[in-house]
Amino acid sequence: MKNASQYLWWHTGIIYQIYPRSYQDSNADGIGDLRGIIERLDYLQWLGVNVIWLSPVYPSPMADFGYDISDYTGIHPLFGTMADFDELLDVIHLRGMKLILDFVPNHTSDKHPWFVESRSSRDNLKRDWYIWKDPGDDGSVPNNWLSVFGGSAWEWDEQTRQYYYHGFLKEQPDLNWRNPEVQDAMLEVMRFWLEKGVDGFRVDVLWHLIKDQQYPDNPPNPDYQAHMPTYDQLLPVYSTDQPEVHDIISRMRSLLDSYDDRLMIGEIYLPIQKLMLYYGVDNKGAHLPFNFQLIDLPWIAQKIARAVDEYEAALPPGGWPNWVLGNHDRPRIATRVGIEQARIAAMLLLTLRGTPTIYYGDELGMRDVPIPFEEIQDPQGLNMPDKNLSRDPARTPMQWDCSANGGFSSVRPWLRVDEAFERENVQVEREDRHSMLSLYKRLIELRQKEQSLITGAYEPVECNEQTIAYIRRESGHSAFFVLLNLSNGSACFNNENRRINGFVNIATSPHLEGRMISGKINLNGNEGIIVRLAQ
Ligand code: GLC
Repeated sequence: MKNASQYLWWHTGIIYQIYPRSYQDSNADGIGDLRGIIERLDYLQWLGVNVIWLSPVYPSPMADFGYDISDYTGIHPLFGTMADFDELLDVIHLRGMKLILDFVPNHTSDKHPWFVESRSSRDNLKRDWYIWKDPGDDGSVPNNWLSVFGGSAWEWDEQTRQYYYHGFLKEQPDLNWRNPEVQDAMLEVMRFWLEKGVDGFRVDVLWHLIKDQQYPDNPPNPDYQAHMPTYDQLLPVYSTDQPEVHDIISRMRSLLDSYDDRLMIGEIYLPIQKLMLYYGVDNKGAHLPFNFQLIDLPWIAQKIARAVDEYEAALPPGGWPNWVLGNHDRPRIATRVGIEQARIAAMLLLTLRGTPTIYYGDELGMRDVPIPFEEIQDPQGLNMPDKNLSRDPARTPMQWDCSANGGFSSVRPWLRVDEAFERENVQVEREDRHSMLSLYKRLIELRQKEQSLITGAYEPVECNEQTIAYIRRESGHSAFFVLLNLSNGSACFNNENRRINGFVNIATSPHLEGRMISGKINLNGNEGIIVRLAQ
């Protein structure tokens, strides 16, 4: 156990992800930008979050909306200038908040000067910075590996008559991280931003960086079903999660550790046991390998409770937990579980042990917005049109107020705004004590001030088909009992032998707040309570 002074800002903070294209447009081009974010910092501070993670704002041809970077140390003019960035960083720091950048090391844009050089000839000095392979005798692809965005992961280059590897779009060639020059160049990129004072990175697809050197075929996935992305036809056992990736992560981590208090979050979609390895030996890997269980699991009380227990049990000593409900790649929580359960999800996210990450707009209950086919922008949606995989619906403009385009922009936005924006927006919800936003705000406030919720132990109490119950407790502080009904039917918590008693501090339903809990607890469907336990 750490004592209070050993906790760092990222143990105790709440992360808020901004998808910059969709947060606030300040220059009337329909696309969000850095100055727009600066304008909205008052809101973020009012909400109570203190760590901002920005999806990529670097120069990019935008084939994958910024995850295809053509200059790692610049700012895309769509988002503003480097001066705007410096100002954003300064004002965030002045408010006592932190800023984390998205770092995308696995691949560059095909327009990045490194790739332009690499593809110019077989003997170019940067040829080996990317993954080039000869065709089979019949001209076929080097192996069966698939791109996450559909089709083969190999693209033929007519000029130099080899294939290059791209785990994502063909416009996103993978760097060859086995090449020490690539490692050095990318660490220099990290250093550039660390020198500017950014507080850390969310590292994109961290488990993809290193591939098996022999490039064997990936085996078929026996559980594949037709509705799944074509990528899931194979198990990516040779193309991802290779042991040598941990050497790279420790190099990144050592660089971060040469500065004070910088954070590395890893984007990693892997089962828990494998995920844990990304904490590294002696916790010298990623500080926070993203834990996506609340995104991946079906919304069933027993499954969620079991996952929390397994995750808590699997954490390495000293490894700090984290929880995520949504991001720019996945359907929004309010769409996945319904608006009522999204309130329960908020309570869960903000009372579990570990750093929570909130995806912009989820605090309003924003839903996936249906985007007509002609308006789809996301390459994942366009490449697999029959599978309904577009990520646009979860990336629509933030809903600020009742004015045109929800206050996001004075012109037509790059993606349509939810039709419900006049009812569901910051301005309206701030005034309504029972809105999703008010619930988030109160949950955040409670979490930020109660030591038991910040650092206290997680004690599972009970779980059944409907409910999850647990206590968060830090010695010397009020403990909290959390009871959540993940179903829409009424549920009863048998309190006979447990003698849980105290007052309800926050509830999904206002009529429960302030109530004294002692005996049996009855909840209606979709209800949850947080009880401050009597000492
Ligand atoms: C990550 C990003 C996603 C992007 C992909 C390729 O999964 O979150 O948005 O498309 O990497 O960079």
